[in-house]
Formats: sequence, C-alpha cells, structure tokens
Amino acid sequence: MTSEIDTISAIQQAALRELAAASDLDSLDAWRIAYLGRRGRLTGVLRGLAGMPIEERRRVGAGANALKERLEAACDERRAALEEARVTQVIQEERLDVTLPGPPLPHGRLHPITQTLRDVLRAFRDMGFQVAEGPEIEWDYYNFEALRIPADHPARDMWDTLWMDFEHDGRRQMLLRTHTSPNQIRVMEHSQPPIRVVVPGKCYRFEATDPTHEWMMTQVEGLAIDAGISMADLKGTLAEFARRIFGQERRVAFRCDYFPFVEPGMELRIDCFICRGEGCRTCGRSGWIEILGAGMVHPEIIANAGYDAEKYTGFAFGLGIERIALLRHGVDDIRYFYANDLRFLRQF
Ligand code: PHE
Repeated sequence: MTSEIDTISAIQQAALRELAAASDLDSLDAWRIAYLGRRGRLTGVLRGLAGMPIEERRRVGAGANALKERLEAACDERRAALEEARVTQVIQEERLDVTLPGPPLPHGRLHPITQTLRDVLRAFRDMGFQVAEGPEIEWDYYNFEALRIPADHPARDMWDTLWMDFEHDGRRQMLLRTHTSPNQIRVMEHSQPPIRVVVPGKCYRFEATDPTHEWMMTQVEGLAIDAGISMADLKGTLAEFARRIFGQERRVAFRCDYFPFVEPGMELRIDCFICRGEGCRTCGRSGWIEILGAGMVHPEIIANAGYDAEKYTGFAFGLGIERIALLRHGVDDIRYFYANDLRFLRQF
C-alpha cells in the first residue's frame, strides 16, 4: 500500500531533478517519453491502478493524477523556456550590425587619355566651342572625297587606311576614319554659320606601332566658320589653347604644312616646355614641339556646304590627344597608354 505512494514520490523527485537538467528540446522530449509517454514510468503506475482495491485505487490514483498534471505543466513551462532561449540564441548568433561600414571598394580613376581629352575639351568650351561627335566607321566621301582628297590624290598616302571588307556600288567605300576631319563636313551639312565646334573621337591607321605611333588614337577636330574670320582668329585661338594646356608663358609659332582641305595649311608649334627652347630630347634638340595641324578652311569646301564663300571664312584644326598626354606627363612611349598595365595607369 505505502509502496505505491513511495513510488509516486520517488518518481516525482527523479522527474523534477531530470527535468531541471534537460538543457535542450531533444533532452526534454526524451524526458517526456520516459515519464509521461505510453510506456513511461508514471503511465505505468496509472495502468497498475486497475488491479487495486477501491480505497487504494482512489488514494494512489489521486496522487498519480496530480503528479501527471504537475509534470505536464512543468514540461510545458520548461519547453517554453528552452524555446525562448533558442530564439534568443539565434538572434544573438545571426545578429547583423547594419551600422558597420561595408567592405572597402577600390576607387577607379580616369584613364590618362580621358583626363587629357577632358582638359582639352574644357579649354575649347571655355572659349565658346560646342562639342559634337561623329561615327568611327565612315564613308570614303566624308573621310576623303569631300575634303578634296579624291581617289587618286597623292595626299591619301598621308593616312594609311583600314578599309571595311564591304562593297557599295562595286567598290569599297567604308573605312575606319583616319582622322576626325570628316566631321567638318558633317557639321556643315546640318548647321549654318556662325559655327564653333570641337569633335573628339577615336581614329584608326593601318600602321606599325612604335614609341610615337599607335594604330588607334584620339583626335579632336576644331571648326570655326563665320563672316570675317581670319588667320588672326586662328592664331589667337590656338595660342590661347596652347597656353591653357601647357602654361601661360608658352610661345607659339606656325609653320607651313599641307592638308588638301585647308589653304593655307600649317602646323602649330610651341617652345619646348622642358628646355624652354634650348634643345633637349623631348623637342628633338630643336627647341620647338609640334602640337597640331590647322589652316583656313578651303573656300571650295565652304561653297560645297552651300554657304556664301564670298562672305564666310573659317579655320579648322586637328590635334592628337595621345601626343599631348605624352608631352604633358613626360611619357616616352605611346604604347603604354593602351597596354592596360595597371602599374602604369595608376600613376595618373
Ligand atoms: N586631319 C588632319 C590630320 O589628321 C589634321 C588637320 C585638321 C589639319 C584640320 C588641318 C585642319 O592630320
């Protein structure tokens, strides 16, 4: 008689001790099966009630049922505590500090040719020139014909041409533009004087590369057309440009040169900013550095544009950005610019 009651209090002691030790949900489940499951210890006592005399059954039954309720409640409580602890742990482990700075992103920089191009365009924009663009794949007509360089003209040798493998009217007529001058024609086709425009862009030549030649380079074309434009305007504009890029103290000189689309044609030189005219490696010991080609727009081209060639005159120029960047930065080989060696490019 007493033994059943002893058993119940022994079960209670053991159960509560083990429950307190259940440190996770798995051990809690094991505990529940051990005491309250179908084959659990307390369930065993309850089953045994059937064979007991009525008095004993009442007493033992009341004690066992009370313990069952108590253990179930304790189990629920423990489960709630363990679940809460687990949630707290997950929150702790997966905690995200959104105020932490992100991983550092390496800063890019502008390519040295882009930097020089932007400086050159800014100098001309500040003098009232607009910026336009034109196609890199060009017609023979714009690149040569309309610039007074017909198919058999010896001046074609000045530009070794990369032709497109494509025929139109039985002959190849498309090419990679060899200079930006075709845009003189393109701009005149769709505008009326006064015109002040610069046209930057890539040009291509079928040439072997060496320290001063690349098969691709960047040019800036300039064109100004208005009533009464003279050589003085050309000289003043280009001298001002040279000083803005190479220093206010620069001296400039013009020397006769030939381009079929200008008359007269000339090249602009500046006094060497390394040796100041004494003669050094950069200027080839001459004291002077050639910067660009220029000239007064040929009257035939003005007339072909449909303008009154008696009234309108103009000047044009073309300069190579790589050449200016070489000089500005004292780089001795143009091929560095497009070799994609970051050790070189990071210096600018
Ligand atoms: N297009 C010429 C060249 O590539 C440069 C130039 C432009 C000369 C405009 C005169 C006028 O060499």
